[in-house]
Amino acid sequence: MSQQQESQPRPGDSLIHPQRFTSVKDVYDVQGLLESALQIKSDPAWYQDRGRGKALGLVFFNPSLRTRLSSQRAAQLLGMDCLIMNANQDGWQIETQEGVIMDGDKQEHLSEAVGVLSQYCDVLGLRSFAGLQDAASDAAEGLLEQFIRYATVPVLSLESATRHPLQSLADLITIKEEVRKPNTKVVLTWAPHPRALPQAVPASFAEWMLAADMDLHIAHPEGFALDPAITEGAQLYTDQEEALAGADVVYVKNWSSTTPYGQAAPERKEWLFDAEKQKLCPEAKIMHCLPVRRNVVISDDVLDSPQAIHLQQAGNRTRACQVVLNQWL
Ligand code: CP
Repeated sequence: MSQQQESQPRPGDSLIHPQRFTSVKDVYDVQGLLESALQIKSDPAWYQDRGRGKALGLVFFNPSLRTRLSSQRAAQLLGMDCLIMNANQDGWQIETQEGVIMDGDKQEHLSEAVGVLSQYCDVLGLRSFAGLQDAASDAAEGLLEQFIRYATVPVLSLESATRHPLQSLADLITIKEEVRKPNTKVVLTWAPHPRALPQAVPASFAEWMLAADMDLHIAHPEGFALDPAITEGAQLYTDQEEALAGADVVYVKNWSSTTPYGQAAPERKEWLFDAEKQKLCPEAKIMHCLPVRRNVVISDDVLDSPQAIHLQQAGNRTRACQVVLNQWL
């Protein structure tokens, strides 16, 4: 099933798809998942034996700090073991092309690798970033879809080419905890960065905020518009200051251009989120998924201010993963 297709609900009380957690489309009850996650924080011993004897396997094709460790911690808190592999570093070189004659450098096909991991693990996670060379290829989520096809256990996205659902769920938990105000104005603002970064985090954030009925505003320079199919229902701006006025939450994030695809714009330094910008929304909580380049994306004084909640946000990554894993135990 492609990323664009809706997941089919299953009967019963599960809050997510039985085989995949790759986007908000795999969630049947966003509010229920959120309430479950908030319950975890009030009950530290929540389902601590539920995963006893089971294992989570994590496969990383790209680097990670938070996703790796929060997922490992979530598994531990549910009583699960956690096995972690850095693909193409810890094991054999992996071939992902179908039907090839494997007489080159790659020793193991993804089909056997994932089939074998399914023998050892009860849930598998995959990190597979966008290549940022070809928009259609990234949108097709080839590696993730192949991985799901070969797996015989549920698959958890640890950030794919187009989505980062565990991050977005943690973001939603954090906003619900930190902003107790009706009609919360959430602003997602682009910021500069020296490298071309994927659009997975901002696209996923937009999708989850709209699914949770947030009042979402998105600011970005010309050429950086996210997929209109994702942002439908949000207010869009190319003037950052106009978007920021009166915000309750400001989510700062760089992403690469969409027209043309996959370019950085480090010269747009006027989009840095600093104390002057913060004056436009003095009550706003400031969020970033991390890692963040200080004084390139967000200034020191903002990150070190009491309004910044990026560390609580990272803390909620564990809760997000716990609540998702629990659905499959
Ligand atoms: N936010 C996030 O996914 O962090 P890592 O890349 O360190 O996992």
